[in-house]
Amino acid sequence: MPANKNQQNPAFFLTTPIYYVNARPHLGHTYTTVAADALARWKRTRGFDVRFLTGTDEHGQKIERSAAKAGKTPEQFAADVSQEFRALWDRMGLTYDDYIRTTEERHKRGVQHLFRVLQQRGFIYKGKYAGQYCVFDELYVDGPPGTVCPDCGRLTETVSEENYFFKLSAFERRLLEYFEAHPEFIQPEARRNEVLAFVRSGLRDLSISRTSFNWGIPVPGDEKHVIYVWMDALANYITALGYGMEQHPLLDRYWPAQVQLIGKEISRFHCVYWPAFLMAAGLPLPQTVIAHGWLLFEQSKMSKSRGNIVRAETVLDVLGADALRYFLLREIRFGQDGSFSFDALVQRYNADLANGYGNLVSRTLAMIGKYFDGRIPEGAVDAGLQAEAEQAITKVSSGYDALQFSDALDALWRLIAQTDGYLTANAPWKVAASEDAASRKRLAEILYSAAASIRVITALAYPVIPDAAAKVWKQLGLGDIATADLKHLTWGGLQPGTRLGEPGPVFPRAEKEAISRMQAIEEQHPARATAEAEKQPAVFQNPAAVPVSPKVVPPEPTAFTPTAVPAAPPTQSLTAASPGLPAAAEANPAVAAPATGKISIEDFARVELRVAQVLKAERVPNADRLLRLEVDLGYEQRQIVAGIAEAYAPETLIGRKVVIVANLAPRKLRGLESNGMIVAASVGEKGRPVLAGFLEDVEIGARLK
Ligand code: MSP
Repeated sequence: MPANKNQQNPAFFLTTPIYYVNARPHLGHTYTTVAADALARWKRTRGFDVRFLTGTDEHGQKIERSAAKAGKTPEQFAADVSQEFRALWDRMGLTYDDYIRTTEERHKRGVQHLFRVLQQRGFIYKGKYAGQYCVFDELYVDGPPGTVCPDCGRLTETVSEENYFFKLSAFERRLLEYFEAHPEFIQPEARRNEVLAFVRSGLRDLSISRTSFNWGIPVPGDEKHVIYVWMDALANYITALGYGMEQHPLLDRYWPAQVQLIGKEISRFHCVYWPAFLMAAGLPLPQTVIAHGWLLFEQSKMSKSRGNIVRAETVLDVLGADALRYFLLREIRFGQDGSFSFDALVQRYNADLANGYGNLVSRTLAMIGKYFDGRIPEGAVDAGLQAEAEQAITKVSSGYDALQFSDALDALWRLIAQTDGYLTANAPWKVAASEDAASRKRLAEILYSAAASIRVITALAYPVIPDAAAKVWKQLGLGDIATADLKHLTWGGLQPGTRLGEPGPVFPRAEKEAISRMQAIEEQHPARATAEAEKQPAVFQNPAAVPVSPKVVPPEPTAFTPTAVPAAPPTQSLTAASPGLPAAAEANPAVAAPATGKISIEDFARVELRVAQVLKAERVPNADRLLRLEVDLGYEQRQIVAGIAEAYAPETLIGRKVVIVANLAPRKLRGLESNGMIVAASVGEKGRPVLAGFLEDVEIGARLK
């Protein structure tokens, strides 16, 4: 996009986080991107020269491991998932101006430039890092081996490497002074307080390179190091504007950003590390970093690792993009957590969009069609309705400006209700029954006023429900809303005599089945089916068939089903046509284990059994049968919660080599995350667990095949 576009208008640079490509896009990501799109559209209507940036975060150990698991190169894996994000945003018609991928050349160049600048300015030094690292959050964590990540609760891994360090400690005072002088920098208040407390507790220098893997941007001049993925990722906000290039007109025009939208869990990176990097590089800080809350599903944060995701595509297929946008922005108070459910979505859709806005539009325009031959009548204006519309303009505008979308929409839907009420109270269909001049005049006044109000409503609804608003704008005979001048929106912009456009449904009512349809689409989708399957305990042999059988000791013995459960079908094999049944099973009966109780070698190969050594073991308070173990797999350490406390005293386990199922989806027990299961024989009637072991010494991490 040419940098000189709209140069006379104030610049407004708006960013979303760039999404990790280890997970496919879900409603959580959609939420942030939709909020950014609504804000971008709003600001454009207000005459700002908006630049809206989004993209994908593609480097780091987590992505490298995900790619290996998927059997792809990191390049291919990242390209595929990045394309899925982009395709979804395009399908939803999101109006991003730039889409950055951190594997792009322009980004690599910019990040290396930033590294060099910080080095030249004396903020980088080489040292030895010996400490804990959470691969899931790509976060350095203070504490001894065995420390759990404060963000995600997973066990951290021990890293001991020569690293480059960034002198974060040198910015402690400057950051606090900046926060003091710019109270608007971190929003909302709750996040600001958290960040202040974090900085006040003291900042330590930050390791900004790694040597134990390659999937990243090399440190310039010392290529065995790759740059810490968060430094790499945060820099996208400026590399997308040409930072590191000789000429960077976009950077000159758009940096610093006006709004950087993030989810609350990444406040520390955006409100501490990022401003410190910018200060160190001599660049101005963004005006505001705004952290929103989480979209919850089934009571917890929607995320791939919890297996509780809903894909945006499901809602798009059944109700369309506007319905999803409206729901997300109306239902959740921006800044707070909010729940998603199909029931609530359909209820809102029917109440607010189909019966509310859609119905108001269709009945008003139908009456203008019928009584005034499809032309906006010339009539006096209802002063009461005009006043209400003018009030709504002010309220909705300030709501959008403050990113309080739910307040803005609440005010807007009040105007819809008022306009509806106005029609009901004045009953134009009754007035139309009389042909006299006074009645015609009255009818013109009522319908003109209602149509003028619909025009205002539509202009204000456009940032949130752009497709529907564009349709209604056309139906009002006003042409293309995208090119309309909405900057100085006032009541009086509807010219009498305007010929209405083609009428048509805006939000057809959703049937009750819409809920079950969406649920079925989600359940049948491979992503969901796999997550469900991963929740099942894996069993390799039917315990009933042999007196002493190897079994996996489930974290909670009661949760264990003593029947053979076939391993999960391959991700791609579920078809919509046969829900719940692997497509491969239809084609190849040998794969269809359930009938015979046998599984194929491929099924078995999907279960990753490995040797691990117990580092720590302790009882779980108030849970007689549970032990919390920390085990070392050689390449990583993790926490497992196992139901073996009645058979093993914790201290007898330290140093013991055990067999674990290493690729089970994590699950929480008594608030503790369990990452895997211990394999044991189940002995006697009570099923006393006896841990599997080896006569010879076996290297930790070795795989059982
Ligand atoms: N790659 C980093 C961000 C780097 S930015 C320089 C990252 N990526 S992520 O894929 O995990 O995306 C995190 C963002 O996605 C959150 O900050 C939030 O914007 C959005 N969300 C993902 N799940 C979400 C919910 N369940 N609810 C709300 N937003 C969520 O962190």
